[in-house]
Amino acid sequence: MKTYFVTGGAGFIGSNYIHYMLKKYGKEITVINYDALTYAGNLGNLSAVSDSDNYTFIKGDVCDKNLLQMVFAENCIDYVIHFAAESHVDRSIKDPEIFVKTNVLGTAVLLNTAKDSWYSGGSFKEGKKYVQVSTDEVYGSLGETGFFAENTPLDARSPYSASKASADMLVKAYFDTFKMPVNITRCSNNYGPYQFPEKLIPLMINNALHGKNLPVYGLGLNVRDWLYVDDHARAVDIVTQKGKSGEVYNIGGHNEKKNIDIVNILIEKLSELLPDSDKRKKTLSKDLITYVEDRKGHDLRYAIDPQKIMNELGWKPETMFSEGIVKTIKWYLDNSEWLKNVTSGGYTKYYKQMYGGGVQE
Ligand code: NAD
Ligand code: TYD
Repeated sequence: MKTYFVTGGAGFIGSNYIHYMLKKYGKEITVINYDALTYAGNLGNLSAVSDSDNYTFIKGDVCDKNLLQMVFAENCIDYVIHFAAESHVDRSIKDPEIFVKTNVLGTAVLLNTAKDSWYSGGSFKEGKKYVQVSTDEVYGSLGETGFFAENTPLDARSPYSASKASADMLVKAYFDTFKMPVNITRCSNNYGPYQFPEKLIPLMINNALHGKNLPVYGLGLNVRDWLYVDDHARAVDIVTQKGKSGEVYNIGGHNEKKNIDIVNILIEKLSELLPDSDKRKKTLSKDLITYVEDRKGHDLRYAIDPQKIMNELGWKPETMFSEGIVKTIKWYLDNSEWLKNVTSGGYTKYYKQMYGGGVQE
């Protein structure tokens, strides 16, 4: 019986990961979800599992040393899976300090708490592992060709990616200094259910359903490498079980797409999926696409070389983009209450700050 301490489990990837793990392992594992419930955290993402005996939620900040020490003292934690972060590049450009606090200081506090709890008599207890969920964005921006490999030098270019790269270096330092059992995963852009509608795909779906403009940055020619969130969850599980301590594993499925192509696909699929009787279909049109001012320092292209995790750990992506994007759009159509809940409150204010109020009312 292994106990997983999952940070940020109420967010997009963390909640999908918890669903994936509880479905796969059932009562063989215990999951403690530790999350501060920021604007991006939503316990509604976990309502299907919240009554399970082997699932516990603790509201807490990863910077809260005392609370973390207490939780580690009270529970026999085997694995730390660290998802919690400030995760949105645009927010990091407007307000970088919280990114440094949560992503860098939070990682330092969590790492050290795990180390102190797991280190005894000059070595680490058996069967422990700390997994740092990082991002391909730490490698910077690619030109038209090439891929990020694990030995690509770090070249973070946004305050978000700089904070994630700093956290990665702390994790590496704990391996080099203490031989702490760690892995770092660096995944490409994820899509799927429960993603907060500030990121490209859910933002465009939400706006399109409301007949609102679709704000494409610059010329829409930037490229991202998209992976269905369950494939990421499965990769994190495989790395936890089989990853060689101290190693970095890139995760991606060779699915590069230009932003403008993604937006066009979303409009096409939405119009196929919405019945003619649905009034939201009437305002759905490519005319909603609005080219807006480019993101500052906008990374041109991300693309992962996933050979290491495929060859050494036997992971491969299972969900094709054509299938995953339809599943995702259907999920947003079937969960309009979820969308309504997460876009109430501060969302409209945030949106106005971001886009000057010209896009969504
Ligand atoms: P998210 O923004 O949807 O969720 C983040 C979660 O962390 C939320 O539940 C939030 O409440 C929680 N959190 C924030 N600050 C906290 C704090 N101080 N203490 C405790 N909890 C806190 O993010 P996501 O998209 O699910 O990303 C999860 C992780 O995966 C992040 O570390 C991110 O860098 C990484 N990642 C994301 C992507 C992607 O495409 N979204 C790709 C690769 C890697
Ligand atoms: P995003 O989902 O924020 O992820 P990231 O910046 O971490 O890759 O953005 C994905 C791409 O979509 C990125 O090139 C920026 C672009 N984008 C838009 O064109 N319009 C938008 O409204 C958003 C949120 C993103």
